[in-house]
Amino acid sequence: MTRTLALHVVQDRRAGGSLAAERIAAAVAQRPDLVLGVATGSTPEPVWSALVERALDLSRVRAFALDEYLDIAADHPERYAAVVEREITRPLGLDPRLVRTPGDDGRDEGAPQRYERAIAEAGGVDLQVLGIGRNGHIAFNEPGSAADSRTRIARLSEETRRDNARFFRSLDEVPRSCITQGVGTILEARSIILLAFGPSKAAAITAALEGPVTANVPASALQRHPDVTVVVDESAASALRQCRPSAAAERA
Ligand code: PGA
Repeated sequence: MTRTLALHVVQDRRAGGSLAAERIAAAVAQRPDLVLGVATGSTPEPVWSALVERALDLSRVRAFALDEYLDIAADHPERYAAVVEREITRPLGLDPRLVRTPGDDGRDEGAPQRYERAIAEAGGVDLQVLGIGRNGHIAFNEPGSAADSRTRIARLSEETRRDNARFFRSLDEVPRSCITQGVGTILEARSIILLAFGPSKAAAITAALEGPVTANVPASALQRHPDVTVVVDESAASALRQCRPSAAAERA
């Protein structure tokens, strides 16, 4: 299989957001009912604001979020269903009936399979927007998550809980369990845009792109995906030694 990994080193988060928004806009122009994989967290924020600036008609876009906290109050503002509504659905003018978050139709044992089925029934994700954790996670696939893992109930690592504590009043309030798309689920998206900004992401980006493909760095499985665009700023790219900016790296 021929794989293409395009690396774009941009000046700042805003430029990264514009680049990703341009890709999304092009995809929506091709297919107004695009199936978009959306991510929460700080990293994709400039993507959503750049998309808002474009004032596109996104009312037919179908969206699937990557993950959701489980042990969190239904009305908690940091529940990802609420975050997606506030930061993505409303500002972008998506139709709320076409936006799904894992667990929004129940949080029982069958919820992960129902979510997988919903994605499959939509025809699969066309374009996935993705961040990366400092520990190399994608969605809540923490180190140890297999490349063929599916949507499931999982536990957050303590590192991730500490990283996400900034969204909560205290570390104690940060949820411990979640429903997350699996690495294998994410890899089924037809195209992926992986974004990372800031020096705290440099080690994870380097391990993901240049290290061995290993469950210890779940994002390294992206090396096996046929269409990944990586958008990083200088500091997130600072430890890369093999990948070169904007070079489409063809690998057999
Ligand atoms: P962040 O999280 O964008 O808030 O840094 C990224 C991630 O954990 O995937």
